[in-house]
Amino acid sequence: MKILVTGGAGFIGGNFIHYMVNKYPEDEIVNLDLLTYCGNLETLKPVEGKKNYRFIRGDIADRPFIFDLFEKEKFDVVINFAAESHVDRSIEDPAIFVKTNVLGTTTLLDAANAYGVKRFHQVSTDEVYGDLPLDRPDLFFTEDTPIHTSSPYSSAKASADLFTLAYFRTFGTPVTVSRCSNNYGPYQFPEKLIPLMISRALADQKLPVYGEGLNVRDWLHVYDHCTAIDLIVREGKVGEVYNIGGHNERTNMEVVKTILNALGKPESLIEHVTDRKGHDRRYAIDPTKIEKELGWKPVYTFETGIPGTIRWYVDNQDWWKHILSGEYKDYFKKMYGNRLK
Ligand code: NAD
Ligand code: DAU
Repeated sequence: MKILVTGGAGFIGGNFIHYMVNKYPEDEIVNLDLLTYCGNLETLKPVEGKKNYRFIRGDIADRPFIFDLFEKEKFDVVINFAAESHVDRSIEDPAIFVKTNVLGTTTLLDAANAYGVKRFHQVSTDEVYGDLPLDRPDLFFTEDTPIHTSSPYSSAKASADLFTLAYFRTFGTPVTVSRCSNNYGPYQFPEKLIPLMISRALADQKLPVYGEGLNVRDWLHVYDHCTAIDLIVREGKVGEVYNIGGHNERTNMEVVKTILNALGKPESLIEHVTDRKGHDRRYAIDPTKIEKELGWKPVYTFETGIPGTIRWYVDNQDWWKHILSGEYKDYFKKMYGNRLK
């Protein structure tokens, strides 16, 4: 199979490419990424040079470019990770979220239709369901929970989901959609909670916790997200949505204290700062459908996954220090500067 992975220089797409390139040597994996501020080719070093892997730089919202690419490459499968993904940035500048997440996705869907792609998988998020109250631990997001978004980010992701499902109903495009909870693991851009807190704690800098830090997130190791997407693409039913999560709810304070404890740093580093606007209170996924229908089971709990993740950031300081210093951008120039636009 020839598989187009978009956004493969980002956190989850990068981990997914590592997973796929090694698991399926007979498949051809093409990584299309624009290398925005968070796209980092240093993440792909372990697979560079592998026969079944290729990188192409480009914008999913650039229609002529995307149609040319699909015409040339004849992809069997498209898996769309490419997105603007950070809620705080969407509060500062919503427009780029509409362009990338909505127009980018519909451009890919149009090309998938035009060139007979056999499966289009949209990587979505549990944030499309909005949030749950903190005092109702009995409530979970199921695939039937109404879409009810809070931020410009989640609104743009929800629009992309709805377009994807509308293409199935209207044009018969063979789509699937997955909605996963918060991911953690190697190669996450250090603007997101876990890598931000690890990198700052290592430098003995203050850790900015929004508000009281009692908001709850449902943490899944990125490896388990990758196995779920692989399974949905190969065995999922077209037109269906699958929730992905492993019942690992933690308050932000619990997560931050776990990190400080693992690094032997004092809790006095925690600083409560002004809350995020519209801050979602609690996310919690009910993964019954993917477990029952596809037999998916996560490998990691938060307890078993987080120590290795913290260790990864301790052992791979060059990776995130290059990001903080801007050096990671030079890597593209060095590797591709003479070959690509
Ligand atoms: P990320 O921000 O780390 O990576 C996004 C990637 O998309 C980057 O490499 C970036 O360069 C690329 N990109 C951005 N705009 C592009 C464009 N116009 N054309 C081509 N490439 C472009 O994001 P992530 O955390 O890896 O998330 C990946 C996907 O998973 C997103 O769709 C996100 O909504 C979804 N998701 C994320 C989480 C999470 O916890 N991080 C959870 C559930 C779902
Ligand atoms: O649920 C899936 C979503 O998880 C994905 O769709 C998003 O792409 C991904 O970014 C993530 O969104 P969150 O907003 O939950 O992740 P973030 O890491 O930004 O924040 C996690 C929690 O930590 C949230 O309650 C806000 C809080 N926080 C975050 C930062 C960056 C802080 O308290 N301080 C911070 O500095």
